[in-house]
Amino acid sequence: MVKVVVLGMGMAASHFIVGLERLKNGEIEPYGVPLAGKLPLDISEIEVVGVYDVDVNKVGKSVYDVAKEQIGSEVPIPETLKKLKVMEGVHLRNLDRLGIEATGLEYKKSLSSALDHLVEQWGRMEPDVFINVITTEYATPIGDLKYLEDIIANNRVEEISAGQFYAYAAAIYASKYKPVTFVNLIPTPLANDDAFVKLYTMYDSVLLGDDGATGATPFTADTLEHLKERNRFVEFVVQFNIGGNLDFYALTDPDKNLMKETTKSSIVRDILGYEAPHYIKPTGYLEPLGDKKFVSIHLEYKTFNGLKDSIYVNMRINDSPALAGYMVDLARLGRLVLDEGFKGTIYEINAFYMKKPGPKGSPSISRIVAYQKMINWLETNNILVKTYLD
Ligand SMILES: NC(=O)c1ccc[n+]([C@@H]2O[C@H](COP(=O)([O-])OP(=O)(O)OC[C@H]3O[C@@H](n4cnc5c(N)ncnc54)[C@H](O)[C@@H]3O)[C@@H](O)[C@H]2O)c1
Repeated sequence: MVKVVVLGMGMAASHFIVGLERLKNGEIEPYGVPLAGKLPLDISEIEVVGVYDVDVNKVGKSVYDVAKEQIGSEVPIPETLKKLKVMEGVHLRNLDRLGIEATGLEYKKSLSSALDHLVEQWGRMEPDVFINVITTEYATPIGDLKYLEDIIANNRVEEISAGQFYAYAAAIYASKYKPVTFVNLIPTPLANDDAFVKLYTMYDSVLLGDDGATGATPFTADTLEHLKERNRFVEFVVQFNIGGNLDFYALTDPDKNLMKETTKSSIVRDILGYEAPHYIKPTGYLEPLGDKKFVSIHLEYKTFNGLKDSIYVNMRINDSPALAGYMVDLARLGRLVLDEGFKGTIYEINAFYMKKPGPKGSPSISRIVAYQKMINWLETNNILVKTYLD
């Protein structure tokens, strides 16, 4: 069994929670879950015990109602989700400038009381894994634990982001109750922040991140690997992403967009070993596209005998279900690595699932290579089912 708390009841969370129920009911196949059938913890063993948000139109409602509104026109929403309520988290400015009315524990309490409040709630829910899928936020690494503790003790709300606060609160819960895994699927540097990795190591816990790698970025990474292995010289890379969901709308904010750009563009140098000129950004918002984003990739490279080739790729891809499929794996891996006694962060897992794999300074590698490395690592550590190996 793995008990999960989901932070941020948006599109990715809706697809994760609804898809999970539908998998348990036998309504769908686990397509889009990379390690479906390969882990010694069945998907049916995942239980979502808590969900948090700060949008006033979501907090206090049932997960059923919120999911119905967000994805009900695309998939049926299981009635069982009426029992799960969206609870109030800390806001810390994240929905400012997005035209959404927000609430937050810090409006009524100091940061340290908000922390006690959450830890006490989690003590009753007994989660093993936290998954962070809140709106992309602007944040810089804290770098020093003492500094983080001072910010909370002195209620300096302007100096901490919501993602950082949740990661800290989950570590405090771990220190009081039991080790946890915190999975950071947004660009906030957590698995890339030494202070947080140290904090999790101290409490025998695991921190995975940062920023889920779905869609165009892993596709570009694998294309770059293909060219590198053939010793073709990449002259430039262009990658556009245009979507119509709230996540893309949030990225029209320059600070938030910068966070994504930072986690996306490290792939070029990391994979090729040289800095090919590139433009890799979430480029825009167009509402009618909804959650099905438009992606376009264009590369040029030098081939044998001094000639030049070009690659053009266009796709329309469902954005949030891609991340939700990864969440089904990461919830289970989160529990399995704790059972095996791991602590800190785990590059072999991050390198496959994350755009900016922690710890700090780790390279982004292509997903084809990362997948094989991860499978070998899981095998070595007895985290793969025997039937898969046979
Ligand atoms: N394929 C993908 O969808 C993908 C891939 C990689 C990373 N991500 C990241 O995952 C996150 C979620 O994506 P999404 O499409 O579900 O976005 P979304 O905008 O639909 O959902 C985000 C949710 O978080 C809530 N929220 C904002 N601040 C919060 C806070 N302080 N506490 C609690 N809840 C808060 C919002 O109200 C919203 O319900 C984004 O940060 C995105 O960058 C998504």
